[in-house]
Amino acid sequence: MKLEESSKKKFYQWLPEERRAFLTEKGIKLSEIESETLERLDKLSENVIGQVRLPLGVLPKLIVNGKDYQVPMAVEEPSVVAAANHAAKIFNQNGGAVADSRRNGIYGQIVLEVTDNFDLTKFTTEFPQLISLANKKFVSLVKHGGGVRKIEASQKENLVFLRVLVDPAEAMGANKTNAILEFLGNELEKQPDIEQTLYAILSNYPTQLTSAKVSLSIDSVGGLKVAKKIALLSKIGQTDIYRAVTNNKGIMNGIDSVLVATGNDYRGVEAATAVWANKNGAYTSLSKWKIEEDRLVGTVTVPLAIGVVGGSIKARRDVQQSFSLLGNISAKQLAEVIATTGLANNFSALLAISTKGIQAGHMKLQARNLVATLKASEGEKAIVLKKLQESKKYTQEAAFEFLSEIRKDQK
Ligand code: MEV
Repeated sequence: MKLEESSKKKFYQWLPEERRAFLTEKGIKLSEIESETLERLDKLSENVIGQVRLPLGVLPKLIVNGKDYQVPMAVEEPSVVAAANHAAKIFNQNGGAVADSRRNGIYGQIVLEVTDNFDLTKFTTEFPQLISLANKKFVSLVKHGGGVRKIEASQKENLVFLRVLVDPAEAMGANKTNAILEFLGNELEKQPDIEQTLYAILSNYPTQLTSAKVSLSIDSVGGLKVAKKIALLSKIGQTDIYRAVTNNKGIMNGIDSVLVATGNDYRGVEAATAVWANKNGAYTSLSKWKIEEDRLVGTVTVPLAIGVVGGSIKARRDVQQSFSLLGNISAKQLAEVIATTGLANNFSALLAISTKGIQAGHMKLQARNLVATLKASEGEKAIVLKKLQESKKYTQEAAFEFLSEIRKDQK
């Protein structure tokens, strides 16, 4: 189709090939993509012109609640999977993690503007009726084991704040919760003392709290000196915000990688986690490491509003391969695996910082990225990588120098 024809339509209505042609004509360089893939992706998002790909890695074995899992991790930072894998081996040697996800639901908010005559106490008596009305309307959610569980209310002047707790069953539940909230909002507007529903939308407030705990022998972490250092580092993270936020970034390395691999909403989890880390009014570490009865014990609790169905999970082949790795997994189990992976990344970071420092491992892996950008044969790249790692010189200049040395030697 010609661009003039397509330009009669809005950009979002164009075919993805038309958008690509339009941009290419302007000199923008787009990567090749198969048309079948492009068409598929176009159905998942808006204004699609291509794809950004991430490597999918796997933790071959992570024991959580006595069960072995193969954990998919989608992330571009090379050290993240390596770090999780290193920790997973130590966790597994110690019997793995004990984890628990309290799948107690997700919150939605309805804010109503009410008249001066509005009586909150009378209004709250109607909540059981509202709950059953919603559960009758959204019967398929109820059939899957979910539904509206609770409504709570508070009033500030002429505004009434309703907090609606929805159990989304095996899904993350954002769409279903929003539909329920809008339905309830419309119903409530029919009442004489309610002027209007100002808004009715899901809240990303922390819920679905998931904890993981490991208890590691001192030998398995490299001795008492190391264990004590890890515990001290963790203690610093409880009060020092500079350390706390970095500690939590390490946890999110693991958590986000599994969320992305399983098609879950990492933005929602990130937003909720930031609130959770600040729940007592001061931002703190999400994890704690302590020496207890001659063992190093680590715990983490994170809000994980995740699902194993719904959203784009079924529609995405890349995500389906992750679920194939995970096997037949429930949302509760997946949350427990995710929290444990976060704790694994956290442990690896603390272990590295307490021993050889973080940079050694990071840069060793980062060297692969330096080598990947060289215009060189695969054989040359392998030699340059070896030389970078041996010399511990991790710069682009060093990579160029080694490459020209190899080429000189070959002449
Ligand atoms: C790097 O991606 C994450 C770490 O900085 C986390 C930490 O310091 O705990 C290594």
